[in-house]
Amino acid sequence: MQISDIRKEYTRHTLNETDVAASPFEQFRKWFEEALQSGLAEPTAMNLATVGLNGRPSSRIVLLKHLDTGFVFFTNYNSRKGADLQHNPYAALTFHWVELERQVRIEGRVEKVEATLSDEYFNSRPLLSRIGAIASEQSQPLPDRTVLEEKMRILEAQYANQQPPRPPHWGGYRLLPDYFEFWQGRPSRLHDRIVYEPAAGETWKIYRLAP
Ligand SMILES: Cc1cc2nc3c(=O)[nH]c(=O)nc-3n(C[C@H](O)[C@H](O)[C@H](O)COP(=O)(O)O)c2cc1C
Repeated sequence: MQISDIRKEYTRHTLNETDVAASPFEQFRKWFEEALQSGLAEPTAMNLATVGLNGRPSSRIVLLKHLDTGFVFFTNYNSRKGADLQHNPYAALTFHWVELERQVRIEGRVEKVEATLSDEYFNSRPLLSRIGAIASEQSQPLPDRTVLEEKMRILEAQYANQQPPRPPHWGGYRLLPDYFEFWQGRPSRLHDRIVYEPAAGETWKIYRLAP
């Protein structure tokens, strides 16, 4: 079997300009709800692409934790993605809901969320995840795993009788979209691609792209 022989026809759904919602947020919620209902393994997983000081893109998966005027995820502000976003606040998200043969691309400006939202989410996490967020200097070189495990042991003892507070280096980011593309796989690679871009007032311009 050659890698190039692996192929799949996409036949499950269609997407038409006439059927999509007027608001991309509404369209996203509809597809997201279907992803949740479909029992996918990681429906909230999204690829986050950022650009660093050197002009090079980097990407990684993060989890969508909140959806309001934007797409919220939580992370370490001192991580590589945090450093990238401090330098260049523009980023791109991609959801791939494999079993639904769907992709959603979202682009926009990213800002830190309000401290109250970060506190609220941090405090809802399991104790060891909260301690882990304090212990881990995300994206920094680690001599070996035992260094992290030892740090965890010390912090677990420290917080045996008190709730760990959210560390200042950990919190949420919100991507405020100014571009959405909904992609539906179709037979013979003639996929449906419907784009939303801001138009006058609060409205969105909707158009189709060639696959
Ligand atoms: C399914 C999945 C979910 C993840 N969710 C998060 C997340 O919500 N926040 C996060 O900081 N890292 C998450 N990660 C880890 C990131 O992909 C990445 O390793 C980490 O954030 C460091 O990235 P950076 O060095 O580019 O900043 C997740 C990884 C996977 C595979």
